[in-house]
Amino acid sequence: MLWSIALALAFAAPTLGVVRFHCSQLVVERIDPLVEPERNPSSHVHQIVGGDSFNSSMDPATHDLVADSTCTTCQFSEDFSNYWTAVLYFRAQNGSYKRVPQLGNNQFETANGGLTIYYMQDAIYDQQQLSSVKSFQPGFRMFVGNVNARSIEEAARFRQLTYVCMDTWTSRAPEIMQFPNRPCKEGIMTAVRFPTCWDGKNLDSPDHMSHMSYPEIGTFESGGPCPATHPVRTAQVMYEVVWNTKIFNDLWPEDGTNPFVWSFGDATGYGTHGDYVFGWKDDALQRILDTPCIFNCPASTGTTQSIQAMNSCSKPTVVDEDIDGWLDELPGGYQADYGSVPM
Ligand SMILES: *[C@@H]1O[C@H](CO)[C@@H](O)[C@H](O)[C@H]1NC(C)=O
Ligand SMILES: *[C@@H]1O[C@H](CO)[C@@H](O)[C@H](O)[C@H]1NC(C)=O
Repeated sequence: MLWSIALALAFAAPTLGVVRFHCSQLVVERIDPLVEPERNPSSHVHQIVGGDSFNSSMDPATHDLVADSTCTTCQFSEDFSNYWTAVLYFRAQNGSYKRVPQLGNNQFETANGGLTIYYMQDAIYDQQQLSSVKSFQPGFRMFVGNVNARSIEEAARFRQLTYVCMDTWTSRAPEIMQFPNRPCKEGIMTAVRFPTCWDGKNLDSPDHMSHMSYPEIGTFESGGPCPATHPVRTAQVMYEVVWNTKIFNDLWPEDGTNPFVWSFGDATGYGTHGDYVFGWKDDALQRILDTPCIFNCPASTGTTQSIQAMNSCSKPTVVDEDIDGWLDELPGGYQADYGSVPM
């Protein structure tokens, strides 16, 4: 196995690899230019990373993420994209909420929170799938998930929006589709994987999803072909977010009810989702996707910055509200929703 990877690298298989890098926190607040543009505040709290041109409007016709940014929180200094998710809150037994902070991921421990990004050029260590993947284009945006999902049936159409109960700092399995039902020693990791087949025409769509599709059969990892309606095979974008739930492990309810709640009220976990607005400089992403590498791509493929420089890029909040104290309700007025089946 290792031998064949080395061989493929030596002979420069065009697409073998997985690009993995971290982005520190840019800002945490109720702003969402993809789903709720121009709204200040938007409905629920997000944590956002990437270029500092991020704001509530980001009109695709005029907003230039590269030209309008002065810095990025991402390790690749040519990546001014914005990546975001909702945030987690802990619900105490008295009904008060407290935001769960994020941690720098494995190998990025000194990063200020944020999330880790993967651009999967190919299934990890898969030698068979050698067709190239396309970068996204300026103006491209997408969303995945259903904020209203509260059951496994509603969540099932989204592949691979998952949770890992981290018993160790490097735990990556088993992946489950709802909040863990026990305290996790090192925290909870959430993963968001986006669909990988583009219609080749639309940079966005009304639901921010239908211009993208999953493979027609199989998965990205199994080399499944794209459907005729969405023929362009893109990299698989994945986020990993490490939530420092361990600081609340002593406060777990005695009846074992999961105490974690998404900022939009979901206490089941099925409503997890992610947002992506492409903003790489020139052809930087395609250049990186065309370079064979596994994980340690920044060193060999592009312009990068230190974690210290990533941490120094941030943005003041524009929404004036307390999101970090002990709160009677989640910002936006939500309460924990356990769905129809109590957990
Ligand atoms: C967002 O940034 C753009 C420039 O990139 C600016 O023209 C626009 O007015 C800003 N919108 C808000 C709401 O700050
Ligand atoms: C609710 O419980 C938390 C955790 O024990 C505590 O820190 C907080 O002060 C309590 N809030 C109220 C209003 O009693």
